[in-house]
Amino acid sequence: MSCRIAVFGTGYLGATHAACMAELGHEVLGVDVDEAKLEKLAAGEVPFYEPGLDEVLRRNIDAGRLKFTSSYSEAAEFATVHFIGVGTPQRKGEFAADVSYVDSVIENLAPLLTEPAVIFGKSTVPVGTASRLADRVRELAPAADDIDLAWNPEFLREGFAVQDTLQPDRLVLGVDQVRPGRAVDIAREVYAKLLEDNTPFLVTDLATAELVKISANAFLATKISFINAMAEVCDAAGADVMVLADAIGMDARIGRKFLNAGIGFGGGCLPKDIRAFMARAGEIGADEALTFLREVDSINMRRRTRMVESVRDLLGGSLLGQRVAVLGSAFKPNSDDVRDSPALNIAGQIQLQGASVTVFDPKAMENSRAVFPTLGYAPTIKDACIGADAVLVLTEWEEFRKLAPSDIDSVVRQKNIIDGRNCLSPQQWREKGWTYKAQGRP
Ligand code: UGA
Repeated sequence: MSCRIAVFGTGYLGATHAACMAELGHEVLGVDVDEAKLEKLAAGEVPFYEPGLDEVLRRNIDAGRLKFTSSYSEAAEFATVHFIGVGTPQRKGEFAADVSYVDSVIENLAPLLTEPAVIFGKSTVPVGTASRLADRVRELAPAADDIDLAWNPEFLREGFAVQDTLQPDRLVLGVDQVRPGRAVDIAREVYAKLLEDNTPFLVTDLATAELVKISANAFLATKISFINAMAEVCDAAGADVMVLADAIGMDARIGRKFLNAGIGFGGGCLPKDIRAFMARAGEIGADEALTFLREVDSINMRRRTRMVESVRDLLGGSLLGQRVAVLGSAFKPNSDDVRDSPALNIAGQIQLQGASVTVFDPKAMENSRAVFPTLGYAPTIKDACIGADAVLVLTEWEEFRKLAPSDIDSVVRQKNIIDGRNCLSPQQWREKGWTYKAQGRP
């Protein structure tokens, strides 16, 4: 059965969710306050890079199932199911999450709800937010008794957003235990196709659903910082963290995924989520439980400074007047997202120490330039490497993995390559007379 759905927020999460809900056969309205973004989406253009999303978007616009609007009253009138997919960034100068965009959706939407409806929150929020919002909806909505608010966290990864939405590992739904309402039944309708595919469906209380999301990200961040801490120990001991990761990863209890040592995690989620989690734990009197996340955060941030130091060491102790090519500025491959990108952050730090830095990224050039307009940007890998004293691979795009020494041999000034993502073959570069360096490898 097809549902009438509004999705609030058309960023990485909201746009993907809206397009994928239409792909499941529902009638969907994407809602945002950013008219420029809406115009692009309505024309079938995804305003960011996400493999496969443009096809899903266009197909569903053409089929008439997917539309966009900035009008909350249109959304309230049209839909009986409302998803909140707006961002919850880190507050300026604080660890806590800024939930004002989520609050604003509720403040604007709830007063317009005159008929029965279900609101599903998808944004990552501090535990306790959903219950607070449920109270607020009851205060504001004319149809208060017939409006249910539930939390349905999203686990999609950028770069795999469509696949993660249409074939998720699990669906989690937190419902108000005192007033469960129709949220579970409606979620079963919305996600009927996924449930037919035997996707596990876990129904829980609101707080647990909120915590499932943030603790999953905290665990992933911890796994990455664990292997990066091992890389530091490997450096001190003359051992190889790649072999170590492969070997411990073969233990099924540990698993090899998310054990790639390198310059650490960035992006719009992991860094701010662990901080928001610590901040919230403090507020509810559980700060001691999460003090280890402070260490996870500092191991991660140390990766960036260590990378800058190792480039400086390789170039004889000073970056002044050196030319550095940076390959990759997105926070990870298959994305144009540079929010808290370790790669771009390192490029900036190296420039601050007096080097001239030229960046190339297959998709993130425009976003990088907006954040760091003073860095140099080159249209190809080879152009970025002209005259370079060191070439840094900081995002493991496929085209960098495939790079051969002969591709850039003739243009660099010195044959130095630093592999910030452990994605190259040391042997291949060393055989061709290059100095290859990585962290955690001899
Ligand atoms: C992350 C989670 O993986 C998603 O499940 C979650 O839904 C999402 O945040 C979110 O909260 O919205 P994402 O930010 O897209 O997804 O990126 P990840 O694939 O988790 O990568 C995060 C960072 O960790 C990247 O900078 C990546 O390069 C780094 N990373 C990842 C490593 O340094 N080593 C690894 O082994 C894996």
